[in-house]
Amino acid sequence: MSDHAFAPEIDLHEVEAAVAAAIVSGRTDRLRLLGHGEISIVLAWPQTEPHAALKRVPPFRNRVEAFRYVDECNAFFERLRAADVAALPTSLHALERADGRTVVYHRQPIADAAQLGSNVLRAAAPAPSHPLLDAIVDAAAKVCTPTVGLDCQVANWLWDGTTATQIDFTSPFTLTDGRDDITYDSAAFLQEYPAALRPYLKRELTRLIQRYTTAEGALADMVANLLKEGLDGWVDPAIATINTRLGTDLRRETAQRMLDEDRKFMPLTLKMKKSQRWWLQHTRRRYEALLPERTTYDRTGS
Ligand SMILES: Nc1ncnc2c1ncn2[C@@H]1O[C@H](COP(=O)(O)OP(=O)(O)OP(=O)(O)O)[C@@H](O)[C@H]1O
Ligand SMILES: [Mg+2]
Repeated sequence: MSDHAFAPEIDLHEVEAAVAAAIVSGRTDRLRLLGHGEISIVLAWPQTEPHAALKRVPPFRNRVEAFRYVDECNAFFERLRAADVAALPTSLHALERADGRTVVYHRQPIADAAQLGSNVLRAAAPAPSHPLLDAIVDAAAKVCTPTVGLDCQVANWLWDGTTATQIDFTSPFTLTDGRDDITYDSAAFLQEYPAALRPYLKRELTRLIQRYTTAEGALADMVANLLKEGLDGWVDPAIATINTRLGTDLRRETAQRMLDEDRKFMPLTLKMKKSQRWWLQHTRRRYEALLPERTTYDRTGS
């Protein structure tokens, strides 16, 4: 990781100032956004002629915690490499702020939206199989262990016709040996929520990560996301691919149940974040996250 000498052409202070302005105004319309998931908003940078995708991770209490997180990300890249799973070239950069906190940014090339897995499947007529689905199932089988999960949803992959490339690294799904805690400082992620709810949310987050630590769980989640994205025609092919390649007996109902749970839980977490933002900003304190208008689970959402 390079310490805020990001790259000659990107000044991380400028990025942080633009993000801070958007947070204070509660508006993201002056930023160029490439997308958003449940954790991060993806910025195109520089705003005039973008050539990089930037993902901001909420600030860590100090440098040590930030570096622990960066080490976990690097270990995750290494795991993917060892499993022969392609990763979009990603560099991590830290900015130590005047208030002592350290913000980490992930930097990637801007991907061609047409290659995003969800767009690839949407553009193709549903068929009994697809090589992208084969590649994702095989990646899950190689990467998942009891303490390491893989977020397999199709919107986390690029497909160029031959290779599936993972793009989502902001929240590595790595658990401690006892599987009951996350290996890096989850306080950075949980600070976005009201303090009283953090212990509960930490348990929920850990439980959620456990879902991704078996290939079957991670892939059931992928199917749940196909349903969420309106890619129903690909659900049966995906389930058939999973069951054939893994020898499992995954059913559509399992994925549907997962989606129903997430559809209740995820919008609730955004509401909690918005109320925490309101509270901090009305007591003249700083809220740290750039929140999307709505979650990707809201039916009216983008
Ligand atoms: N390098 C990139 N170029 C263009 N668009 C991108 C890039 N990376 C991400 N995106 C878009 O932003 C969306 C969200 O990105 P990403 O999956 O990294 O974040 P996330 O889902 O919030 O992460 P998390 O899984 O930690 O919640 C992607 O599905 C994609 O549409
Ligand atoms: Mg994602």
